[in-house]
Amino acid sequence: MTLISEPDIVLREPTDFGDRTFRSALVNVTNVCNLSCRHCFVFRADNPNAPKDKMDDATMLYQLAVLRDKHHIESMLFMGGEPMIRKKFVLEAMGLFPRSSIVTNGTYGIPSAPGHLVTVSLDGPEAYNDPIRGDGVYRKVKDAIFARDPNDRTNVILQMTITRENAPAIEEFVEGVKDWPVDGVAFTFYVPSKGEHSELAWDDLRERDEVVDRVIAMKRAYPKLIKSNVGALEMMKSDRALEYTGENGEPCVMRHMLPLYMGDGGNFEKTFCCYGNNVDCSRCGAYAVFNGAYHRVQGLPQPVD
Ligand SMILES: C[S@@+](CC[C@H](N)C(=O)[O-])C[C@H]1O[C@@H](n2cnc3c(N)ncnc32)[C@H](O)[C@@H]1O
Ligand code: SF4
Ligand code: SF4
Repeated sequence: MTLISEPDIVLREPTDFGDRTFRSALVNVTNVCNLSCRHCFVFRADNPNAPKDKMDDATMLYQLAVLRDKHHIESMLFMGGEPMIRKKFVLEAMGLFPRSSIVTNGTYGIPSAPGHLVTVSLDGPEAYNDPIRGDGVYRKVKDAIFARDPNDRTNVILQMTITRENAPAIEEFVEGVKDWPVDGVAFTFYVPSKGEHSELAWDDLRERDEVVDRVIAMKRAYPKLIKSNVGALEMMKSDRALEYTGENGEPCVMRHMLPLYMGDGGNFEKTFCCYGNNVDCSRCGAYAVFNGAYHRVQGLPQPVD
């Protein structure tokens, strides 16, 4: 227990995650979400995700600062649940780190965070997004994007998580959003859980290759708009992907990131990786894994956001 300046406020110490350095981390500031997207890894059974588990603002600010100093965290991704449910807190806590970013479902408006990255999730054009994210969500997010001040110096990008189900709509999605007031469009691919056979997951990575090729084609058609790099996408192909994911994440660069989930009694818990527990690394589609590996192979500094 530690006393801070106000004598009657006692803040509890964060969970002990050892002494390792984690240059980047993510934090689920809340397990509460207004949507229930069908593909969401956060709310899978094996993850800490009970909405009743909460940490108050002062304690979370304090614990994030302690963990920052202990693990030398430079970059923090604010996530949830839906982080904009705690908008005021998130905007304040972003100041704790040299680099902070937010990933949001966009239904509470797009936060203004000058100098920071705000990633807004949309999983395809309306006819594909809404069956995943909920009726009316595409329209709401579009309205929010158009309502924001495009000159507020916030770096806003859209992110589509490609599943087997929405993959046919990649091109239609790009055509639909290419003139929106955003700074780019990013793609990542579905991360299934172990043993999952669903309409969202590819059973065999070879079936995913043609989709990766179509993202590469989009990148070539819209090199400024699409925030993917061809070298990293090539590494996602079935003949190479396992080198970077392993069967169990052994070589995965994302294992160097500290995932802070909101666990039992409102205390942070570290999961296997930022996609939680019980993930199928051998079919992982997280773009960041391959982009990080690409930077490592090229001898470049790791991407920070
Ligand atoms: C879990 S959400 C949390 C933040 C916010 N609620 C949102 O939807 O953006 C963060 C990102 O993870 C993506 N995501 C969810 N489930 C996924 C999965 N199984 N594999 C890959 N990405 C996933 C979402 O589409 C979203 O872009
Ligand atoms: S909005 Fe985000 S956290 Fe909520 S269910 Fe959808 S992907 Fe998961
Ligand atoms: S699921 Fe993906 S991001 Fe997580 S450890 Fe496995 S390969 Fe890495």
